[in-house]
Formats: sequence, C-alpha cells, structure tokens
Amino acid sequence: MNPLTLTVLYYSATGTNHAMAAEAAQEGERLGARVRLRQVPELAPESAIAGNPAWQAHRAATRDVAVATLDDLRDADCLMVSMPTRFGGIPAQMKQFLDQTGPLWATGRLVNKAVSAMSSAQNPHGGQEATLLAFYTIMFHWGAIVVPPGYSDPAFIAAGGNPYGVSTVAVQGGALKPETATAVQAQTRRLLEVGRWLRDGAAAAAAATD
Ligand SMILES: Cc1cc2nc3c(=O)[nH]c(=O)nc-3n(C[C@H](O)[C@H](O)[C@H](O)COP(=O)(O)O)c2cc1C
Repeated sequence: MNPLTLTVLYYSATGTNHAMAAEAAQEGERLGARVRLRQVPELAPESAIAGNPAWQAHRAATRDVAVATLDDLRDADCLMVSMPTRFGGIPAQMKQFLDQTGPLWATGRLVNKAVSAMSSAQNPHGGQEATLLAFYTIMFHWGAIVVPPGYSDPAFIAAGGNPYGVSTVAVQGGALKPETATAVQAQTRRLLEVGRWLRDGAAAAAAATD
C-alpha cells in the first residue's frame, strides 16, 4: 500500500507539545506512514530562554529535531500540528512559520490537505479551544480539510473531551498522562484515515473521469 506522508509540526517551549507531537509521530510510524517530525523555528531572544530553566533544558534536549521548511508542508498528505496557547492564540513562532506559506497557498499546494491540531495551556480552561480555533481559521484559508476529533472515539472523552483537538494542561518535562497519549494516538489514526480517503478518493475519481 502506498504510504501516506504525515508531517507533525510543533512548537514547544517546555516540552508538552513536543511530547504530544512525538506521540503522534510514533503512532503515524506504527500505522505505516512516512513521518516527518518538525519543530518551527524559535523566535524568542536567547535572554528570555536563558531566564527559564525548563525552556533552556527543553531547547537543549530537542536540538536535534529538524526545523520545518515549506517542503515539509508541500509534500505532506496529512498535517498534525501541536502548539501551546499564548493568551488564547497561537504562538508567534507557529504564526511566523505559517505566514511564510503564501507561495504554497498561491499555487494551490495546500488545498485538500488533511489537517488536525492539538494544544496545551497552563490551566485546564486556559485557552486551548480558542487556540485550536485560531489555528483552524488559517486552515480554512488554505482550503485544507480540517479533521477534528469530535467525540468519534471514547479516548477523546477520557482525555478531557475537547472535540476541537486533544488538549492538556502543561506537563513540564513532557510526561503525558496515559489518557492524553492514547487520545493523541486516536487523533493521529483518525487524521490518517481521513487523509487516505482524500488522497485515494481523489485518485480514484480522477481515474474514473480519464
Ligand atoms: C506569553 C505566554 C502566554 C500564555 N498564555 C496562557 C494563557 O492564556 N492561558 C494558560 O492557561 N496558559 C498560558 N500560557 C502557558 C502556556 O500555554 C504553557 O506554558 C504551555 O501550554 C506549555 O506548553 P509547552 O510545554 O509545549 O511549551 C502562556 C505562556 C506564555 C509564555
């Protein structure tokens, strides 16, 4: 079977969203996808990072994770994104990366990609849903196909029941609760399932009209 290409794109200062992204990447690999785990470039000044030991430690621990390029979006059938909330919105680092997708957008390279997203905040209701909605607004402009978890699997309810995307409170050092990890796996499975419908369905439709 022709494997799907899954890009897992994340921003994380202190490890939570890295852990969610890594879980999604691992599940994608387990399901046979070609997976790229990518962090977006850091924008914060070194002085800010140095002032937060958890941030500094996480940065050092993930130095080897490849930094995303536009090719990682262009070549993906499916895109999973994980990012913390920043005052109820998406982090500047993620926004800056997405703001560079104009050339892909203008040439229709982002249309019909299957996209799903996850988030975290310091508080249980600190802005996770608002962050996901802000992210999905950008996906609507891409013409991407947003794949929300909804309540399509009991794992999503067990992890807090956020139908917009799996979310959690921040876990410094990246030790996800087991129910969060299970829900991330379920969201990844659902994304790949819909991504396969889209890719193979489009190919079948094109073949039928030849
Ligand atoms: C500038 C800034 C704004 C934040 N705003 C919120 C917020 O509105 N609500 C909240 O609960 N947490 C807020 N946080 C906490 C982050 O969401 C939290 O540190 C993050 O989810 C941890 O994810 P990470 O470990 O992947 O970096 C904020 C953090 C920063 C630095």
